[in-house]
Amino acid sequence: MQLTDKIALVTGASAGLGAQISRDLVARGARVFGLARREERLAALQQELGNAFVPLAADVTSEEAIQQAFQRIGDRLDILVNNAGLGKFGQAKDTPTADWDLQMNVNLRGVFLCTRAAIPLMQEQNRHSGFGGHIVNVSSVAGLMGNPNVSAYNVTKFGLKGYSEALFKELREDGIKVTCIFPGSIETEFFEQAGVPISENPMTSEDVSSSVLHVLQAPDNYLVSEIVMRPLRPKMKT
Ligand SMILES: NC(=O)c1ccc[n+]([C@@H]2O[C@H](COP(=O)([O-])OP(=O)(O)OC[C@H]3O[C@@H](n4cnc5c(N)ncnc54)[C@H](OP(=O)(O)O)[C@@H]3O)[C@@H](O)[C@H]2O)c1
Repeated sequence: MQLTDKIALVTGASAGLGAQISRDLVARGARVFGLARREERLAALQQELGNAFVPLAADVTSEEAIQQAFQRIGDRLDILVNNAGLGKFGQAKDTPTADWDLQMNVNLRGVFLCTRAAIPLMQEQNRHSGFGGHIVNVSSVAGLMGNPNVSAYNVTKFGLKGYSEALFKELREDGIKVTCIFPGSIETEFFEQAGVPISENPMTSEDVSSSVLHVLQAPDNYLVSEIVMRPLRPKMKT
């Protein structure tokens, strides 16, 4: 897809990977609706990127807030990046119910609500132009392998793998691409909430965003359904 003048929704745009994907989309001429809860962060990104970045203050877990956000977006959406997410790590026996629910709600319910709202817009676009759009779901290597202290987060990111695979098969005949990405450690604020130290030599948001932009810009006739990304030399500080 050529990104010039395309309309994108990026969730979790206030920080980390979502902010970087927003920057990279705007740099290529797209108009980006950036959704997150922290309005001041979104406002700062709009200062940086200009009017091609439109802040949408919303909680992805709220059905009403997502309905209102889609009313602001209007009747066209070319790209949805389901990026908002968090981890709260710890042993299964010690996991508070609130931490379990929060991860399920943000990492899965939020993706479901945004995707369900985006599909009809993309299907309509396909009827007009023969190409529907592209949905990118941000899973994790934690969506490919379980590990101690990560069980709840594992559930959500494995869930995204299954959801993405089902969507890909459901939507390909509508000209809608679905890609699920599985990054290893990225240097973001994620680890502050997760409660574990970041690995020594993680990837950057720029690294991971470059692959997202690559798949978005692939020719319309094929799709990349999954990508795994890992830091090179994870134990060596650069
Ligand atoms: N960092 C890593 O090592 C890593 C590795 C693999 C996958 N991932 C995945 O990458 C994605 C982005 O994470 P990141 O590393 O960029 O972390 P981050 O810097 O902590 O950013 C997380 C983003 O999600 C948003 N968010 C969280 N809860 C939300 C809610 N209820 N409603 C709306 N937005 C919400 C945050 O915005 P507000 O707080 O302003 O709402 C923020 O913009 C996540 O899905 C994460 O699981 C991260």
